[in-house]
Amino acid sequence: MKINIIYFSGTGNSKYVANYLSEKLINSSNEVNIYSIEENYEINEEVDLLIIGGPIYAGNVPEKLIKSVLRNIPDRKIDCIVYTTSAGLLNANGVDSLAKKLDKKGYNIIAKETYEMPRNFYFGKYKKNTKEEINKIINNTNKQLDILVNNINMKNLYMENMENKGVLTKDLLAETFSIMAKFMGKNFSADENCTKCGMCVKKCPEKNIIFDSSNNIKFLNKCMMCTRCIHSCPKNAINYKKKKYDQYSIKM
Ligand SMILES: Cc1cc2nc3c(=O)[nH]c(=O)nc-3n(C[C@H](O)[C@H](O)[C@H](O)COP(=O)(O)O)c2cc1C
Ligand code: SF4
Ligand code: SF4
Repeated sequence: MKINIIYFSGTGNSKYVANYLSEKLINSSNEVNIYSIEENYEINEEVDLLIIGGPIYAGNVPEKLIKSVLRNIPDRKIDCIVYTTSAGLLNANGVDSLAKKLDKKGYNIIAKETYEMPRNFYFGKYKKNTKEEINKIINNTNKQLDILVNNINMKNLYMENMENKGVLTKDLLAETFSIMAKFMGKNFSADENCTKCGMCVKKCPEKNIIFDSSNNIKFLNKCMMCTRCIHSCPKNAINYKKKKYDQYSIKM
């Protein structure tokens, strides 16, 4: 089977899922191409299955993913699996908005998947997962992914009467969150540990980080709160509301 996987990932969790699926599907004799929406990608016209996924931000996948996918997918009825990664399974319907939009375009949604992954957002009341929790969460998700791979290979997936719950509310929340994120992003700052290596400038998916005229790191007002900058700075020099946080990363 020819499969294309398309994902957005702020801090690696959704990329981990995409890579895991890709590896297992290739090992079971499928032809797989995998794309991040941050690169130029073109979906193979001959593709049999699209797998599309990304993180949950405030109950929905990022607008950036939805817009990119709708812009780039071919106008043809293709089987499609949509997935999200989230810090819990409470948002099991977070993928519904994307599913509904693809369904409207004529795509055939054959599975909607939600994978619990370690938390990358622990400002305020949330806590970072412990190492033990992280291992347990990833083991459980790997098992869920193995089941999906098996079902894809056995052509066992089919959704009748797909129910997409509360999509209007979710889209409204997502829009509100996109606006809030721009303000929240102004709470980031680089401290004295910054070596001006420029990695955050290069890696920010929204080009929201620049060097100012004094060659200091400056955050603009285009943030999507993916938290990539804070977790990937080699000096852990990026603070949120002047507070330093433990960094999160996932081994691929
Ligand atoms: C701004 C923001 C909002 C989030 N909101 C939720 C949420 O509403 N529910 C949830 O379960 N996880 C939430 N998370 C956690 C992420 O969805 C989760 O860690 C995800 O796996 C991150 O994927 P990524 O590493 O591919 O970016 C949020 C994370 C961020 C950065
Ligand atoms: S990645 Fe960290 S050290 Fe490098 S420029 Fe950004 S804040 Fe400074
Ligand atoms: S500035 Fe905002 S959009 Fe850019 S990497 Fe940091 S959290 Fe993500």
